[in-house]
Amino acid sequence: MLGYPFRPMLQAIEAKAGTAAVAEVKRRAGVPADRVYRMSETYADEECQRLLAAAGEVLDLSVEETCDLWAEAFLQDTQKRFPVWYQMCANSRALLEYHPEIHSGFAASLQDPEASRAVTDKFRIEKLERKLIVHYRSPNRLCLLYRALARRVIAYYGDEASIEETRCLHRGDDECEIHIRWAS
Ligand code: HEM
Repeated sequence: MLGYPFRPMLQAIEAKAGTAAVAEVKRRAGVPADRVYRMSETYADEECQRLLAAAGEVLDLSVEETCDLWAEAFLQDTQKRFPVWYQMCANSRALLEYHPEIHSGFAASLQDPEASRAVTDKFRIEKLERKLIVHYRSPNRLCLLYRALARRVIAYYGDEASIEETRCLHRGDDECEIHIRWAS
């Protein structure tokens, strides 16, 4: 996984529980204490999974709560760092529809074609009337993060939409299928 999302994750842990908590999360996850995640460098998916689990333990949060904390910091960071994506999109549907292309932009910066494909292959979106069906397949199984981010994107634009996950990697399905339906 690319380094970018790790940064807001660690920032959120620091904001909630201080630098000692960040150090403890890294220790439990087996991540070197001096690791600084670089935006466009790739790190082992297992590292992401270990960090998420360790963050939950240290902060005493469920996976859902940890993903929620991460999503809040992640989205705020994207809004500060990449405001143009939000300005370009008139509403939440436009941004959520466009989101795989944003990821592909990062993937394009990778030299290794396999690493690049690992990023681009995670999401596929079906575009229907007033509805998107998101197909998500990743060793990181971060559908809870996806849903927490999507909820925030919908709220950011002041839209109304429901989010329902009908298939899930955590339940043994071969992908997560997330249905986002707009009221109008
Ligand atoms: C400007 C906005 C955004 C930027 C710059 C951004 C960037 C990134 C990057 C660089 C990654 C790592 C990709 C990888 O290594 O596979 C990532 C992962 C992810 N992003 Fe985004 N993203 C944005 C918006 C969103 C939105 C709106 C959502 C959901 C609604 C989202 C959901 C996710 C998820 C679930 C992952 C983890 C994928 C995995 O490893 O399984 N992102 N994002």
